Amino acid sequence: MGTREPFPVFPARVGEPGARVPGHLPGPRGPAAIASSHLCTTRSHARPRLPREAAISTDKSASWAHCEDFRTADEVLLRATDRAAQLGCGAVSPGTGALLQVVAAALRASAVVEIGTGAGVSGLWLLRGMSPDGVLTTIDAEAEHQRAAKEAFREAGIRPTRARTITGRALEVLPRLTDGGYDLVLADGDPLELAEHVEQGLRLLRPGGVLAVAHALAGDRTPDPARRDPVTTALREVTRALREDDRVVPSLVPSGDGLLLAARR
Ligand SMILES: C[S@@+](CC[C@H](N)C(=O)[O-])C[C@H]1O[C@@H](n2cnc3c(N)ncnc32)[C@H](O)[C@@H]1O
Repeated sequence: MGTREPFPVFPARVGEPGARVPGHLPGPRGPAAIASSHLCTTRSHARPRLPREAAISTDKSASWAHCEDFRTADEVLLRATDRAAQLGCGAVSPGTGALLQVVAAALRASAVVEIGTGAGVSGLWLLRGMSPDGVLTTIDAEAEHQRAAKEAFREAGIRPTRARTITGRALEVLPRLTDGGYDLVLADGDPLELAEHVEQGLRLLRPGGVLAVAHALAGDRTPDPARRDPVTTALREVTRALREDDRVVPSLVPSGDGLLLAARR
């Protein structure tokens, strides 16, 4: 019996697309090869580091849909999302909500501020990640939105003492909250005030706390320099400013409509 190749021999020659390079595992060619080459295998140390282009060269829509569906929204979340649509106030996607829940859980957050209660979708995810006695302070200018949120929290069995809803304009309420007293701040209110919300958020966070900015991609407009409407410009400027800000360690996550996360130093 002759010696068998440990894996099928690739037909292509060295130097051609799909060619087997010594020390490299063969695999799919073309875009699939680029995508799969990010996966670690026992021999991944032999693979070259791939440039930024490799990470974005394939159509990601199936992967993103997969990520959004990874955590299923339960009935309470679905009803809250419906109410948000009826009220026209929007809500974070399940992927973004799940990420917020993870951050809240990782921080063992006991004190969280949310700017923009809406119908309570993000609040539900946050409360479910926070420590069992943690309190969410959530601000919204619209009492009707907060009534919907309270209904969602009640349906979820969340004790009323865990959600402090404050009806008012964010820039009037935030200055009254305590410096360094919070583990997590979610900014999801008026984007035109976002720069001020971020400043207030950084003041409120303890070292190691996390600022999260929802809708950071503004419906895919933020990355497009041709889009210069006030909301997109505000989001673009705030995300750029946080990238340069020595007070935080930032990351822009393409989950849902984009979530900018910035850990307070
Ligand atoms: C996108 S919604 C929030 C959605 C919510 N975070 C969620 O994911 O379920 C934005 C909310 O900000 C509120 N808002 C807008 N301007 C505000 C302001 N200046 N002060 C406080 N709340 C404001 C709106 O009433 C609306 O409910």
